Formats: sequence, C-alpha cells, structure tokens
Amino acid sequence: MISPLAHHNLQSLNSLGCPSVAEYFCAVTSQTELKDALAWAKQQGLALNLLAGGSNVLCAPFIPGLTLQPAFLGRRLIKQEAEQVWVELAAGEPWHPAVLWCTQQGWHGLENLALIPGTAGAAPIQNIGAYGVELAQLLEEVVCFNRHTQALETLSAAQCALAYRDSIFKHSLRHSHIILAIRLRLSLRFNPNLSYPALHGVNASAEELLNHVIQLRQSKLPDPALLPNAGSFFKNPIVTAEHLAQLLAGHPNMPHYSAPHGHKLAAAWLIEQAGCKGQSFAGVVVHPKQALVLTNPNHLPRTRILDAAEAIAEQVQVQFGVELEIEPQLLG
Ligand code: EPU
Repeated sequence: MISPLAHHNLQSLNSLGCPSVAEYFCAVTSQTELKDALAWAKQQGLALNLLAGGSNVLCAPFIPGLTLQPAFLGRRLIKQEAEQVWVELAAGEPWHPAVLWCTQQGWHGLENLALIPGTAGAAPIQNIGAYGVELAQLLEEVVCFNRHTQALETLSAAQCALAYRDSIFKHSLRHSHIILAIRLRLSLRFNPNLSYPALHGVNASAEELLNHVIQLRQSKLPDPALLPNAGSFFKNPIVTAEHLAQLLAGHPNMPHYSAPHGHKLAAAWLIEQAGCKGQSFAGVVVHPKQALVLTNPNHLPRTRILDAAEAIAEQVQVQFGVELEIEPQLLG
C-alpha cells in the first residue's frame, strides 16, 4: 500500500536546504510499491520526479507532480571468485555505510570513495569519484525498472556510458529508467590506488586509507547536516591542449590533469584565483576551505544559489576565459 503525501516539505530532504514543497511525495521500498506509485501518478495525470539522497540537487520552491524517493534497501554478495567478489547494493542504501560494510568484509576498491553523501542508486548517475577513483572502475551492472515497458533491465557498465560526472541516466534514460540496484566488482586483495596527490606517501592498510580519506574530506568539505551544501557545485572544466597552453603561458602554476577528451582544470583553483573563495554572494557563501563548494547557511531558495553561481562563473570567465558548468541537477 502506498500513501502519497500531499504538499510535502522537502527542505530537510535536500542537502542545500532550499525551501521546497512537493505537490505529492512518496517513498517506495519495493518493486510493488514502485509500480503502484507509478500507476497512481499516471491515473492522476501527474508528472514524475525522482529524489534520492538529495545531496546533488537544486529543488524548486514548488515541485509539481509526484516526487518519488527510491528507498529500496539491501546489500548482498552475488558471487565470489579467487580474487574478486560481486556485490549488489539496493538503490536506497546510503553510500558511506555501504563503503564501510564492504571494507569490513575485506572487499576492496571503495576506500577512496568514503564519506561521499547520497545513495548507492544515485552513484552511477553522476559516476561519483574522489581521490583518483571513479565508480566506473568498480561498476559491473545497474538493475533498472523501465517505466515505458514496465520491465526490469540489467545494464552493463559499458551501456551506462559513464564519464566524468556523467552517464546515460542524465541523458537518454533520464525519464524512462529508475535504478533499483547497482552491482560492483570488488577485490579480495587490497591494492590501493594512491595516485591522487593528496594520497601520495600514504602507506596504509584498507582501514587506514579509508580513515585518511574520511579525515581529508572532513577537513575541507562542510558537513551538510551543519552547513547546507551539495558538495562540489561546479564540474572541473575540460579544455583543449591549445587552450591549456594559452592559460599556462599566463598562469604557469595552474593545476591541470590529463583527461580522456582534453585537459582537466581545477575549478576550485580558478574560483580562488578569481577572488571568490570565502566570499558571500548575497548570502550564498563560497566555502573558505574548498572553493568548489557553495554553502547556503540561510536556507535561501535555489534562484539565489543560481544567481551566486552565475556571478562566480562570470568572474572566472572574465579572468580566464573558461566556462564553468554546475554539477547539481535541477529538480522541478
Ligand atoms: N584548489 C584550490 N583552491 C581550493 C581548493 C582546491 O586552488 O579552494 C586546488 C588544489 O590545490 C588542487 C586542485 O584545486 O590543485 C584540486 O583540488 P581537490 O583535490 O580538493 O579536488 P577538486 O578537483 O576541487 C574533486 C571533486 C571532489 C572530490 C575531490 C577529491 C569534482 C567536481 N570534484 O574536487 O568531489 O572530493 O576532487 O578527489 O570533480 C563532489 O563531487 O561533491 C566532490 C566533493
């Protein structure tokens, strides 16, 4: 039995703390509930929105239609071979506790992705990544419900078209597929990825690496429960080799990394050099410890956050001729 709630307050369900009300809201914990909720929305002629952990969204003040929260729970070992395990996490599983659980089982690969907010089901949508590891390196399959055919579909990692903070779930499958579970391929041998500069020299067990990543994140990234934010607000921009060469001529110390389709710049560095770090843009604050993060201490509506983002992007554009793209997804 589902019981959609009318005029449900979403302010505590989005980590930026934007004032937001859903016309209808329903958390679903099983496929039966999901089907019932979809049928109910169809019967009422309501549009459908999906809200998971709320840690990467910009919610409108009023969200028409039914806002559905996939709250499927469950973690299980699918199969084990000599050196690898396959693990399934239901979409509603909170990410960080799942990382801790896998590490405790001796299943490795997720350590660098500790403390990322959000749910397992949201992880492939933006291909979460931190400290040199992206979900793409560990993802095996994604189990989805296709709203159009009403059938279950299992997509291979390749079919998900994962790229930097991107996947097919942000594009062609955006309105058709609801993620039910993800399947990861983890290693029984701890073979740490310490390639990221902040991890250089870390000589650690899995638990130590995990704790190191947790401490690194805690030292720079504000806790959304204490200071509303959505993690990195901008993507790191990718530029061509020519553009990079021009930029380096004027700014020899500018951090840059090679990426699949060009060269990745550090948006945080550009924002800091443009003088925005620690600044308040009409109440929306560029975090003093990590310039990529915008905080919303006064629970301002999303237009105010978008205005601040535009002003910051404009300053970066003027100073460097580089375009910044926002990372959170608009809801409603
Ligand atoms: N930097 C600055 N000023 C700052 C912060 C960083 O100049 O205020 C410079 C650093 O010195 C470094 C470079 O920018 O040279 C990169 O900084 P950092 O290692 O902190 O990572 P990032 O590129 O700013 C990305 C992810 C984070 C992830 C970290 C660690 C994106 C959009 N962000 O940030 O992801 O935790 O790397 O791997 O790719 C998130 O998506 O919410 C998120 C926090």
